[in-house]
Amino acid sequence: MSAEILRNLDIFVRARYPIIYITTFEEGRADDYLIKIGRSRKKKVISWSQTRGLMPAGSGQQNAKSIAEGSNDPMCALDFVLNSHEPAIFIFHDFHPFLGDSTVIRKLREISTAIKESFKTLVMVSPVLKIPCELEKDVSVIDLPLPALTDLAALLNKMIGDIADNRDIKISLTAEERELVLQALLGLTIAEAENVIAKALVKNGALDSRSVEVILSEKEQIIRKSNLLEYYNTSENIGDVGGLDTLKHWLNLRKLAFSEKARNFGLPAPRGILMLGVQGCGKSLCAKAVSAMWQIPLLRLDMGKIFSSLIGSSEENIRRAVKVAESIAPAILWIDEIDKGFSGMNSGNSDAGTSSRVFGTFLTWMQEKSSPVFIIATANNISMLPPELLRKGRFDEIFFVDLPEAPEREEILKIHLRKRMTSHESFDMKALVEASSGFSGAEIEQAVIAALFEAFYKNDGLQCEYLIRALEQTVPLSKTMKEDIDALRNWAASRAVMASKPAENAAGARPKRRLEF
Ligand SMILES: Nc1ncnc2c1ncn2[C@@H]1O[C@H](COP(=O)(O)OP(=O)(O)OP(=O)(O)O)[C@@H](O)[C@H]1O
Ligand SMILES: [Mg+2]
Repeated sequence: MSAEILRNLDIFVRARYPIIYITTFEEGRADDYLIKIGRSRKKKVISWSQTRGLMPAGSGQQNAKSIAEGSNDPMCALDFVLNSHEPAIFIFHDFHPFLGDSTVIRKLREISTAIKESFKTLVMVSPVLKIPCELEKDVSVIDLPLPALTDLAALLNKMIGDIADNRDIKISLTAEERELVLQALLGLTIAEAENVIAKALVKNGALDSRSVEVILSEKEQIIRKSNLLEYYNTSENIGDVGGLDTLKHWLNLRKLAFSEKARNFGLPAPRGILMLGVQGCGKSLCAKAVSAMWQIPLLRLDMGKIFSSLIGSSEENIRRAVKVAESIAPAILWIDEIDKGFSGMNSGNSDAGTSSRVFGTFLTWMQEKSSPVFIIATANNISMLPPELLRKGRFDEIFFVDLPEAPEREEILKIHLRKRMTSHESFDMKALVEASSGFSGAEIEQAVIAALFEAFYKNDGLQCEYLIRALEQTVPLSKTMKEDIDALRNWAASRAVMASKPAENAAGARPKRRLEF
């Protein structure tokens, strides 16, 4: 990966793109690449920050002197860029706060035109992507990918080298364990990886098989801190999901889809599914169960947080989330309630622009992604979803998760009774299945819990009648939200695959399969 990013940057510089914007938290790594390119292209590399002004990049920054008096001032620094004659790469660190100033914007536009004819390149490096619309056509954005395995291997070697003399620390990693350590470090920046390795060393006084666990738990913390993705350790397995046989079969067929063997067989990695359906029928549950079934990590993307202004720009957030998911791949990126995220798009209010840009970024990624990130999106409300998302080719399949039919309800009842260590042997399952007609899985679960409370209160074991009573006392969503559910069913009838096998002779049997878009 680092060779690839180096090559890309080099092409940008050689093609004389005047202004490049690199988004990353890893300023040092971006600088290293640019210094390398400067060296090979015989260009000076000069860096700028507001605290230090302009100075040779990579110089022992603390006491190095600025090369232009007063260049702490952004306008003065930009003038220097404009007027200098030598071939050079100018790296501007954290310049984004100044991109709101109309004089700075104008100056950058002038620079962009002027330096196209020169051998100068201006590169902005910042963790925040902020480009005023006046500059949109002048600036090319590059996302610095997170470190690749080779970068992390180099870091690990260096750290092992640094502690070689320390007798208190033992290094005993087999080749496989080393591979596991490196895999576990994926998804972290170099600085984070360095901290995590240091912590593993200090904690165990060694770098060995135990280190992987320390690294993984640290990584979980770091990903959590980013506040956009949640690392899910799921205990659910596919046996905990009642019904939804078609969906389960589809998933089971792809169990080994991310393996080397599947690649060699010529199979493409699955892209993702959209699960659409009635509340409480097991969509989120399925997402968690897939992770356990496929044995790959599950990252939940919080759409609300992507758009939360407290966490930074929404576009930057989605880029960052996608980058983390890619670096951990193979992984499942679970976008729960995707409808809520993109609902603002058609509203015509001031957020609509942001929503559609975020959506655009996401769609492009979905289309072009080559890393094995499997997307599981869930939604309740299709009217909120932009049609582009549903077009063929984005998802491998769109599944409709409907209310469970009788045999499925029986399965769900048994699952929740079993989970609570209650035997169903003596229960009249037929009566229970009937009493739960129109109930979602979540409502059935709640009824089981309510019945258990009654039993507990009466100092009794769970009786079938308690269950029947609990079911009878519940008004299911299918009654209160009948119109919405019917509309959803109608929509799905021609566009989605039913997640459950159609029950034979079922009353109000479900519509058949999908049509093409
Ligand atoms: N098919 C099912 N089999 C077993 N349990 C189920 C099933 N469907 C729902 N449940 C129970 O209900 C709980 C809630 O379901 P879940 O969160 O998966 O619903 P959902 O479809 O994601 O709903 P929403 O649209 O509201 O997000 C689950 O954790 C599980 O305990
Ligand atoms: Mg859900």
